Amino acid sequence: MKIIHTILLAFAAIVFITGCTKDKTPVPLTENGGSNCDSNHVYFVNDVLPILNSNCAKSGCHDGITHTEGYNFSNHVGAYSSIHPGNLNDSKLYEVITTNNTEDMMPPAGNTPLTNAQIDIIAQWIIQGGLNDECTQDSSNCNTLNMSYANNIAPIISTNCNGCHSGSSPSGGINLTSYSGVSATAASGKLYNAVAQNGMAQSMPPSSKLSTCDINKIKSWVEAGYPNN
Ligand code: HEC
Repeated sequence: MKIIHTILLAFAAIVFITGCTKDKTPVPLTENGGSNCDSNHVYFVNDVLPILNSNCAKSGCHDGITHTEGYNFSNHVGAYSSIHPGNLNDSKLYEVITTNNTEDMMPPAGNTPLTNAQIDIIAQWIIQGGLNDECTQDSSNCNTLNMSYANNIAPIISTNCNGCHSGSSPSGGINLTSYSGVSATAASGKLYNAVAQNGMAQSMPPSSKLSTCDINKIKSWVEAGYPNN
């Protein structure tokens, strides 16, 4: 009886381990500073990871704890394991975000789909080879003057927040897809406190932090009275 028990446990352990080993060896991060950043290049940390964090790495889906079906999209290792660098058609990640088949599509039906611009960013990252790279803007390169809701703030929110804060049951009951929702959150003080991660609201996004430049842009816009410009 005891032996059978042990065998069963060993079997369960193997299933568990192999079910979670789609991850590949980590690729070290390459950082490109300020003027070395190429505006025609997609950077994993700046451009791809926020989309994955907001839309795929949610709690209960493909985050560091749950990793449904073995995929964890909260870091490069996990994302890289779902692609064949340079080959879109052989990349599971690209397949699930572009398929029309409701059984396979991601995010699953009922969630806010990725925008075409977001799909293009992920596609370009795969074509470039799925690098683990980052463009670190020094603060002197960060323009925070006269922030426009439409041109500066909405794009930051769309990339980093709308995967969770959209649709019929947005996280925390807060919908950030339009000016009315974003301005109401700004008015309560929670928008800035959440992204500044200063302890005065829940830290947002939950598993990452916006760049200092983006946080300062939001701060500037909020301090200017969050205009609808
Ligand atoms: C992965 C999902 C996810 C992402 C991405 C995300 N949020 Fe949230 N957010 C939540 C959840 C869940 C809650 C509710 C937490 C709770 O009530 O316990 C929440 C709550 C909030 C709150 C209320 C905080 C408070 O203390 O009352 C604000 C403000 C907020 N989010 C703003 C943002 C902003 C701005 C972004 C993007 C920069 C963002 N969120 C990205 C899931 C997310």
